[in-house]
Amino acid sequence: MGGLKGRDLLSLADLSAEEITALLDLAARMKAGNVTPIATNGYIPVLGLLFYKASTRTRVSFTVAMAQLGGQVIDLAVSSTQVGRGEPITDTARVLDRYVDILAIRTFEQQDIETFAEYAKIPIVNALTDLEHPCQILADLQTVQETFGTLSGLTLTYLGDGNNIAHSLLLGCALVGMNIRIASPSNYQPNDAIVQQAKTIAAGQSEVILTPDPIAAAKGAQVLYTDVWASMGQEDLADSRIPIFQPYQVNEQLMTYADKDAIVLHCLPAHRGEEITDGVMEGAQSKIWDQAENRMHAQKALIASLLGLV
Ligand code: CP
Ligand code: NVA
Repeated sequence: MGGLKGRDLLSLADLSAEEITALLDLAARMKAGNVTPIATNGYIPVLGLLFYKASTRTRVSFTVAMAQLGGQVIDLAVSSTQVGRGEPITDTARVLDRYVDILAIRTFEQQDIETFAEYAKIPIVNALTDLEHPCQILADLQTVQETFGTLSGLTLTYLGDGNNIAHSLLLGCALVGMNIRIASPSNYQPNDAIVQQAKTIAAGQSEVILTPDPIAAAKGAQVLYTDVWASMGQEDLADSRIPIFQPYQVNEQLMTYADKDAIVLHCLPAHRGEEITDGVMEGAQSKIWDQAENRMHAQKALIASLLGLV
């Protein structure tokens, strides 16, 4: 492919529909062991991980993916780098640019990764912000594709907080021609600008629906998706949100409204008994573990493409 060499991935909408299709195809071939990366003639590419928030899946899957591509990883723990003591992003970005080949950043403000991208020439990858989580949604789309053999025309219903996951799902589903329904309490709907962007991308070819009604949203859907009711940085709001979000729990009763072949996805980590029941998480329709595995394949395809290794 090679088409993404040198690019940034700050928002899922930085990719076109064709680029997502090509990445998912590459990820599937990598998962099957059918891709030999381009030889780097002894040069070892290095990925920096700059995470201001906790991570298991993203950190480990990026690290393993890079190792499998023949590269190395530097874990730039914020607490032990100068950026954690207030060195400006504009300075940090220009310095890291001289050392590493690609930088994955997990932080709060979307503006911060945009500043990194402005000041660094190397590819900057959004490894989660408060606004988006594009790497997660690439793995989610891979999981849907390998289950149903297609994406276009399917319906994904997201239940819960209109957060970073909801935002990247809105953009990702619209880009690949999937219908997306977001069911959330009225004060927790997704960012209006992202909803409008998704509607523009969908251009009337697929549905972008927001509703406070979880049952109407679940009806006939092929994918039910949920995430925590309080994201990282909102821990103090978690208890007060439980009664507000309870009607949006993905449980055995809600599953009866979905398509009989529906699958359940959750980006993890999960709070069992809150946004999803233990039974649904462990049930036959759960693809949550395949979804977690696909983080590694999708990111391997992404890194290889951004570095021009394929
Ligand atoms: N889904 C996800 O991003 O998990 P981590 O927070 O463990 O990286
Ligand atoms: N919405 C969650 C996703 C975690 C992967 C958070 O931001 O904490």
